[in-house]
Amino acid sequence: MKSPYVSELEPSKVITGSFLVHSKEIRQKRTGELYLSLLLGDRTGDLDAKMWDNVADVVETFERDDFVKVKGLIQVFHNRPQLTIHKIRRMEDNEVEFGDYFPSSKRDPQEMWIELRAVVNSIGNPHLRALLNAMLDDEDIARRYRLAPAAKQIHHAFLGGLIEHVLSLCALARIVAAHYQADLDLLLAGVVLHDIGKIYELNYERGFSYSSDGQLLGHINIGMRMVADKLRALPDFPATLRTLVEHMILSHHGHLEFGSPKLPQFPEALLLHYLDDMDSKMEAMRALIENDRQVEGCFTTFNVALERPALKMDRFLNPPPPRAAAPAAPASEAAAEAQLKPDAPPPPAHPAFAPKPDSPFAGKLRQALQPAAPDQEK
Ligand SMILES: [Fe+2]
Ligand SMILES: [Fe+2]
Repeated sequence: MKSPYVSELEPSKVITGSFLVHSKEIRQKRTGELYLSLLLGDRTGDLDAKMWDNVADVVETFERDDFVKVKGLIQVFHNRPQLTIHKIRRMEDNEVEFGDYFPSSKRDPQEMWIELRAVVNSIGNPHLRALLNAMLDDEDIARRYRLAPAAKQIHHAFLGGLIEHVLSLCALARIVAAHYQADLDLLLAGVVLHDIGKIYELNYERGFSYSSDGQLLGHINIGMRMVADKLRALPDFPATLRTLVEHMILSHHGHLEFGSPKLPQFPEALLLHYLDDMDSKMEAMRALIENDRQVEGCFTTFNVALERPALKMDRFLNPPPPRAAAPAAPASEAAAEAQLKPDAPPPPAHPAFAPKPDSPFAGKLRQALQPAAPDQEK
């Protein structure tokens, strides 16, 4: 197993580790000398890295998507860890365990596949069930559906991300279809098929990138093609049902400017769009918070897709102790009042935001709520 992972790196330490090169840029210093600006990563996250010296010796020895072994110093720059590389060498594929370098779903792929097949077999409409089974029985589709990320960057950008996203939508579909008396079979068919074109839109055998078909056609068009291919072998599939399925794929982005040529025009299509949007944004926010590498502060970096930073709730509620020793500040106005009146009962903590008993925040709060010692009252 590789060590250390990006998530384990600590500032001011010299490390020797192996990473995947996500990007490689050759830049020029003011003096005219070259330096290397890299984005390195593994399955736990990414790390900015710079190599300032002896660049000419190594610049041609590795490329993007290669694995490299590096030695260097972790420093904090602009509130984020950055690696200053002292030594770097390309590694052969047989020196690494691929699973260590590519983020993947925390769920078991085989278990997710069995769950998806069970969802499809629960569909009562025989035509929709036949179409979905024809799709998932296809060996190449099945292999890719299990492996594909749901996006290159924005949400579920990890191996197994597509199927995890689809299963999450299946669970949501059952709830909202019952609530709005929508056709669950049609909604589930839309869920399973809406992003199926992503299995060919993206390359994910190594780094994640768009395939040529992905660049030129996009996953909506690829998905439409795939459905058309499978329907050729299903001559009894009703033409009206085909139009509904195709409309759900075409309209699932919900807006013309987001790549859908049609707006959702029946309840199941509208639900598919909103569920898809909600699930992708919730996962994007989860990943933003989990992967944020800001050293200080309780907000993440700005996320372009979500158009905002996110609050790191744990840091907000449990701020790290101040660096310099300072007198304990009352945690709230109520606590300040309690400090002035030793006989008053302590104000109750809000149950939803009660701090963990062993956190620095809890310690501060306890201190603030306790009557001041006699020598402090002077
Ligand atoms: Fe999509
Ligand atoms: Fe989606």
